[in-house]
Amino acid sequence: MRHSLSTPQGQPLTGASPVEEEILKFSGQAPDGPGMRAREASGRLTAPATTGWFDRWLAACHDLAELERSHPMTDAVIDEIDGRMIRIGEHWLADFASCNYLGFDLDREIIASIPEYLDRWGTHPSWSRLLGSPVLYGEIEERLTALLGSEDSLILPTITLIHSSVIPVLAREGTVFLDSRAHKTIYDGCQLAAAHGATLKRFAFGDPDDLERLIREDDSSTRLICMDGINSMTGNPPDLAAFARIAREHNALLYVDDAHGFGVIGERSPDEPCPYGLSGNSIVRHFGETYDHIVLVGGFSKAYSSLAAFIACPSDVKRMLKTAAPPYLYSGPSPVASLATVLTGLDVNATRGDTLRAELWRKTADVLEALDRLGVHTPNVSGFPIVEVPLARHEDVDAVGRFLFDHGIYVTLAAYPLVPKDEVGFRIQVTAANTQSEVDQLIAVLGRLADSFDLQPAHAEERAA
Ligand SMILES: Cc1ncc(COP(=O)(O)O)c(C=O)c1O
Repeated sequence: MRHSLSTPQGQPLTGASPVEEEILKFSGQAPDGPGMRAREASGRLTAPATTGWFDRWLAACHDLAELERSHPMTDAVIDEIDGRMIRIGEHWLADFASCNYLGFDLDREIIASIPEYLDRWGTHPSWSRLLGSPVLYGEIEERLTALLGSEDSLILPTITLIHSSVIPVLAREGTVFLDSRAHKTIYDGCQLAAAHGATLKRFAFGDPDDLERLIREDDSSTRLICMDGINSMTGNPPDLAAFARIAREHNALLYVDDAHGFGVIGERSPDEPCPYGLSGNSIVRHFGETYDHIVLVGGFSKAYSSLAAFIACPSDVKRMLKTAAPPYLYSGPSPVASLATVLTGLDVNATRGDTLRAELWRKTADVLEALDRLGVHTPNVSGFPIVEVPLARHEDVDAVGRFLFDHGIYVTLAAYPLVPKDEVGFRIQVTAANTQSEVDQLIAVLGRLADSFDLQPAHAEERAA
């Protein structure tokens, strides 16, 4: 199998996507942005003295807005589900757009466990966590900490809230080194850090050498490196060992968002049933790293099908975040059903998780091998269940989406400006709950799609593999 999670291959060193460029221009970080000029003069990012960004933003979002208005695969109302089949109006489609990688959303053991929690706790605690946390939180944090092998962990409702509240606290008035293709929610957290006095510096996507160059030139005493774990578009991991080494050597803190990896990839073992590793305990364990100079952020909203998120960090950082990061005091908590889903999900992960992951690996491998046979390019070199298929012509995205929809396949469209024009296409996500016949249907439709549209050809090294 050419795909290997633990041997990440070099990722293209592209710049920010158009949306990110717009964000950077607006925030003043783009090389030609007014804020960058302001920073050059004062050494600190300042509010941009620009107008007209909104018109530029709307223009950049034009293609996406068109899709949103007219395409059946965007902003869709799902009328009904039956396993991983979904009904939109009259159409039944196989759902390959779900992030419920382990199929916990449909797991009968998990569903059956929820009413008892509702009987005991009601639907929603309503207190912010600083006012009162049902004991369920403590149970989750204890079990999660043991699973991850971290010193401690803190549960908050979403990763978005964690980024926006924790990144500014950890960055203080120091320097944030931001992967140029980091997830939008990481970007937004970094913007808030900049608004609170941090300096932002971007390094090339997934490029430890570029980070090291920047970090060597930097003399601030607080340095935070922000990046994704498993990338939400390519499905590939970063070279975590290289980034961890840089963080340790330069006394920086590496802040990794493994929203997708948590629950899917985990520690390696000679006995592992598939190359995702064991236990789904996320990217730090998958690469055999310790949490020295690393904080890990992850969520239960993907593999665990629940509304909760976590930061794995030292206990003294957790204590500080309880008062310094606003959501612990100011935000509402996760619903009881979500806390129950997490707790039973942890049970199911312990008993059946590795079997589910092995199934997920096999079904994903079927899809990747089908693309290989068709000679079609995907950036996925890891075998992770995110398989992006870029188009040869970005203008085809509307028609390709309709073709898939008409042939009963539901995917995520990756339109401009969410991705650069040469990456416009669609993203397939496989879950353990997709049946083999749904996977076979997907593979058959991909073959017909390749006959009808120009997909990007597999790169030479993919063909050779
Ligand atoms: C990499 C990454 N980070 C963060 C998020 C947002 O997570 P949450 O819904 O918990 O805020 C997502 C959601 O898609 C994601 O893919």
